[in-house]
Amino acid sequence: MNQKKLGELSKKIMGAYEGALVSGMVYLGDEMGLYRAMDGRGPMTSGEVASQAGLHERFVHEWLCLQAAVGLVEYEGDGMFHLSAEAGVLLAHEDDLRSMARWFDNLPQRTALLSEIPRSFKTGVGISWADTERGGTSGRVQWMERLLRPWYEQVLVQSVLPELDGLIDDLNDGARVADVGCGSGVAVVTMAEAFPQSDFHGWEIAPLALDRCRENAIQAGVTNATFHDVRDGGLPEDGSFSFVATFDCVHDMTSPDDLATAIYKSLNSEGRWLIVDPTSKGSLEENLKLPLAVFGYAASVAGCLQSGMSESGGAGHGVFGLPAPAMQQLTERAGFSQFRQLDIDHAMNSYYEVRP
Ligand SMILES: C[S@@+](CC[C@H](N)C(=O)[O-])C[C@H]1O[C@@H](n2cnc3c(N)ncnc32)[C@H](O)[C@@H]1O
Repeated sequence: MNQKKLGELSKKIMGAYEGALVSGMVYLGDEMGLYRAMDGRGPMTSGEVASQAGLHERFVHEWLCLQAAVGLVEYEGDGMFHLSAEAGVLLAHEDDLRSMARWFDNLPQRTALLSEIPRSFKTGVGISWADTERGGTSGRVQWMERLLRPWYEQVLVQSVLPELDGLIDDLNDGARVADVGCGSGVAVVTMAEAFPQSDFHGWEIAPLALDRCRENAIQAGVTNATFHDVRDGGLPEDGSFSFVATFDCVHDMTSPDDLATAIYKSLNSEGRWLIVDPTSKGSLEENLKLPLAVFGYAASVAGCLQSGMSESGGAGHGVFGLPAPAMQQLTERAGFSQFRQLDIDHAMNSYYEVRP
């Protein structure tokens, strides 16, 4: 037994345990508006924070002490707590692309899923996205929507779509567009608002996500966006689409091959498929060095692998199962002949333009 290694590992495990506890406390701070109550107000007493947030001072004080212990809030002595400008951006600015408070959204509900996951390990059958949302309790749709909304609203149309040659002109002229696995529909609604001449369609398998898609379209007042349940029929395989997008969902599919074939048949001969899917290096050795390896593998066990194995014979790629060469082969099996990785820098995802 190597005592040094034992000590290092026990520190690592304690760090993981503390991380889980701190996550819960960040969730509380976000949920109860505590970070927002402190944002931009300089040093405050716990009484001032409590009064600003409309909460009981004694509990707020203890929460502030914890925040100071972690270093998210700075303790300045004399009972004064300060949320720095930097912490404010990360924890209190909802629409800022750098904001991280949204990662903690619905944490208790998502954590509760852990009680169901042992069944997957025993049976080999994963929990589908639709089952995850059973009873509307897991909050994954809301979590993903809050997590990704700023990116869709501030980056997709502005920086990603122009990377596909001629696409913006096509969308301005009027094209038929599909987003498969569209989640809460934010991408569809954002594109529909930006390109009123085009006709947008989203396909989803999770009923609660579809409800949210329709709410988002109504709230935005768009009339050129329609949402469909894949179980009522998938993409029409009639060559009528000019552009199909899949955001972070090819690896989630039980049969990505069926998806690729359906997309191939749905596109016209000049059409394009934009794939946004997690970056994988192809070997475990290299994947372990990815900056988001821990997040990715955890998300895989708890979500993406679950989805990909939720039917008998499911491909079960998991988050890191489709590195660029495997993705290219997948598209070629469906009939596509052009595959290009886009030069877009993203912490988690790779971008591909695929054409017939
Ligand atoms: C990681 S989420 C991404 C959602 C959305 N594209 C976004 O970026 O917010 C994957 C989505 O794929 C959907 N999905 C999984 N299998 C599907 C299938 N066979 N057909 C359509 N959607 C599917 C899930 O319900 C889930 O909403």
